[in-house]
Amino acid sequence: MIRLEDVTKWYDGRAVLDHVSLHLEPGMLWGLIGPAASGKSVLLKVVCGLIRPDEGRVIVDQRDITKDKESDIMETRRKFGMLFQNNALFDFMTVGENVAFPIYWGSDIEPDRLRSLSVKRLQDVGLSGSEDKVPSELSGGMKKRVGIARATIADPKIVIYDEPTAGLDPVTTSKIYDLLRNLQQRNESTVLAVSSDVQAIRGFVEHIAVIHQGRILYNGPERELDSCADPVVHQFIRGDADGPL
Ligand SMILES: Nc1ncnc2c1ncn2[C@@H]1O[C@H](COP(=O)(O)OP(=O)(O)O)[C@@H](O)[C@H]1O
Ligand SMILES: [Mg+2]
Repeated sequence: MIRLEDVTKWYDGRAVLDHVSLHLEPGMLWGLIGPAASGKSVLLKVVCGLIRPDEGRVIVDQRDITKDKESDIMETRRKFGMLFQNNALFDFMTVGENVAFPIYWGSDIEPDRLRSLSVKRLQDVGLSGSEDKVPSELSGGMKKRVGIARATIADPKIVIYDEPTAGLDPVTTSKIYDLLRNLQQRNESTVLAVSSDVQAIRGFVEHIAVIHQGRILYNGPERELDSCADPVVHQFIRGDADGPL
């Protein structure tokens, strides 16, 4: 579904992504973990065509988008649902309008139908009856759920979650991951999730990649991560104070 081939991205004379190659098969759950500023968010943005790499190729659903015009990339981007790190809900819209936003643009769908889809998806994420609230009335966990409802409302083939549980307590975190798993199973979508909460995301994904200073240090089954010999990976997944990090 997604293939990165030798992708490099430079910022300020530094390779923020350094020859990254990844191959995500369809219908699976993939996790991406790594220390702060290791390139996780940049990688997600490269995958969905928001950032263009300086070298290498990006292939989404068998289309090479590396040199696509912006209008063609927009077409590819419709295959994606995205939850960004800061939720990015619009304060001037109701919760229901926020959720409906991805299907509102560029479609002639009737307002009633739009509203019922939005109400339904809010039910799915455990927020029945919140459609007429505004984002500022919601807790952090509820805002994340609204973001998830919005990311998935168009039943996208690929869903990208950047830190879906940042700042949430452990119980809410578990509930959010259950929700992501249910939505993934229902839509059979390909999911790529970034998280700093190593234990929580490991319980959620089938495959995991570890990135450090723009380089992929591990990419493979989650259950084999513990036997990765790389000292940075070893330290990072255990959270040890001593080590190369
Ligand atoms: N638009 C940009 N201009 C310059 N540097 C950037 C830009 N976006 C990201 N970076 C740098 O790239 C590195 C990786 O960033 P990011 O992918 O956001 O890290 P994280 O792994 O925490 O998500 C950081 O050092 C960040 O400062
Ligand atoms: Mg980030």
